[in-house]
Amino acid sequence: MERNKNIITSLSIGLLGDSTVGKTAIIQSIMNIEFSKDMLGTIGSEKSERRFKLKNNKEIKLVFWDNSGNERFRAIGLKSMKFAQGIMLIFDLTQKRSFDDLNIWLDLIKDNLNDPLIILIGNKADEDKYRWEVTSEEASKFAEKYHFAYFETSAKTRQGINEGLSYLVNAIYDKIMGIDEKDKGMDINDIKKSNKNSNCAGNKNGKNNKK
Ligand code: GTP
Repeated sequence: MERNKNIITSLSIGLLGDSTVGKTAIIQSIMNIEFSKDMLGTIGSEKSERRFKLKNNKEIKLVFWDNSGNERFRAIGLKSMKFAQGIMLIFDLTQKRSFDDLNIWLDLIKDNLNDPLIILIGNKADEDKYRWEVTSEEASKFAEKYHFAYFETSAKTRQGINEGLSYLVNAIYDKIMGIDEKDKGMDINDIKKSNKNSNCAGNKNGKNNKK
């Protein structure tokens, strides 16, 4: 995090989750790069940056760390995002295994990172419902258990991506600046409203991975 006279100028966000859940595709969507079906797996970790306008109209720099979901490269990636203030914890709605593995990722976050704010993302929501191996209810229940906000996204159609990103960045900013929840004007009902096309579960100030 860079600070300038107590003003935050930069925030760091890591993307974690099993291989092929769509971490790189989500970053590309955030970077306005066209969706592609033919993507190479990430080796180690990759860094991208973009400017972002907060709710209060301040502009900051966002640094994204795309970590490989592949077990062989996990350690390198986790090292590079050690000081990330936010994590997008991602699973693939059409791959139950990636949902079951979320607990492994939570342990890795707890052991390697510095208490980041976490949101849960169920990606590939554009896929036909009959292909979904995880229901919105199951995912919402998991999110509620850990007090994460939950977003259903598609890197292909961009559904839910801006909502999730905006929620996460503003919540991190407010957390660092010590802005009270009541002053944030953002609660679960606001999130639900702004997220009509993507399911979103409970969050109380994005309190994170304390089990
Ligand atoms: P690793 O680098 O191996 O950890 O994978 P990753 O999580 O970065 O996944 P990646 O972004 O490379 O996407 C894997 C595959 O899923 C690619 O073929 C993507 O085109 C596809 N994909 C990613 N996001 C979506 C999505 O929202 N919808 C659909 N239908 N396919 C997606």
